[in-house]
Amino acid sequence: MNKTIAVIRGDGIGPEIVNEALAALDVTAQKFNHNFTYIDVDMGGCAIDKWGDPLPQAELDKCIAADSVLLGAVGGPKWNDVPGHMRPEKGLLRLRAGMGVYSNNRPAKIWPQLASASPLKESIVARGIDFIIVRELIGGIYFGEHRTEDVFGEQRAVDVLTYTEAEIERIGRIGFETARRRRGKLCSVEKSNVLDSSRLWKTIMHRLAPEYPDVELSDMLVDNCAMQIVKDPSQFDVIVTENMFGDILSDEASQITGSIGMIPSSSLGATSCGLYEPIHGSAPDIAGKDLANPIGTILSAAMMLRFSFDMDAEANAIESAVAAVLDAGYRTGDIMPTDADEAAMCRLVGCREMGRLIRERI
Ligand code: IPM
Ligand code: MG
Repeated sequence: MNKTIAVIRGDGIGPEIVNEALAALDVTAQKFNHNFTYIDVDMGGCAIDKWGDPLPQAELDKCIAADSVLLGAVGGPKWNDVPGHMRPEKGLLRLRAGMGVYSNNRPAKIWPQLASASPLKESIVARGIDFIIVRELIGGIYFGEHRTEDVFGEQRAVDVLTYTEAEIERIGRIGFETARRRRGKLCSVEKSNVLDSSRLWKTIMHRLAPEYPDVELSDMLVDNCAMQIVKDPSQFDVIVTENMFGDILSDEASQITGSIGMIPSSSLGATSCGLYEPIHGSAPDIAGKDLANPIGTILSAAMMLRFSFDMDAEANAIESAVAAVLDAGYRTGDIMPTDADEAAMCRLVGCREMGRLIRERI
């Protein structure tokens, strides 16, 4: 198959981790007789430096025209002082909205090889951690009006949180369908004891439920959910939630699995053109030092093969290669055990070497 992939290297460690993911894709293409063409897209801080805009329209158009988009990470302290509407993150938000990818899928799964890296007690980890957060990605407070105004000499800031029935329904359906393909448990997370948008959210989820009799729907308030994720993560199969709650809970969920550096994500809308990115940031402190963990990005590329290109065997080949490298004891710094005895069984490697070891096993 021929596929065109828009590639956003971005800032910080972005270029290093994306290089390893592209190299993994190349080896996979060779093995399975595909042809992947990469189109470079500037987004984030590097686009601000080059174009004075975190995502010029022409760059967004390249993404929309591609078969899929692979993204490293954007942002960094260099652009901390640029105005809100010009920040690198704004490029990412515009990309998500421009591509219409309303459904963000963030798996929280513990790799057995890394179980000791979880900060949770062994007895909790032993019950299993394997759930998915389905996060609404192009609505809510992220995309409401933002303004800061002067009211009688005092500054006042406003951020508006809005959801329509249609927006809730389409993400709700993704939640139910995701649960249906897994263990059949869907937990809808909101703050319906305080927010109108959450009360509407809950109403819509229950209106959809009868259409999915094979899925067991439960509700949970977001503060309780934050607590339950560390108390007993084994209770969750699929969580469906709004944009900001999903942002916060997915960082929490990543930590209990050991390392944020391992976690891929997919964002999809009405078409098969998806956006695939690791959930970690641009880690400017380790950028350019060959220290980053490329696995989250490599696994994001595998998700792209599976969800956008229907290439299951190809995705499996990459995922199995990652497992084999972990089995063999290779670790980047972020997943190196802190316990001395355990560390003695592992080998510390850099970003490039980790990429090479994975490629070797695809
Ligand atoms: C994420 C990030 C982004 C978000 C930032 C960089 C805008 O935290 O993908 O989770 O808040 O969505
Ligand atoms: Mg986040």
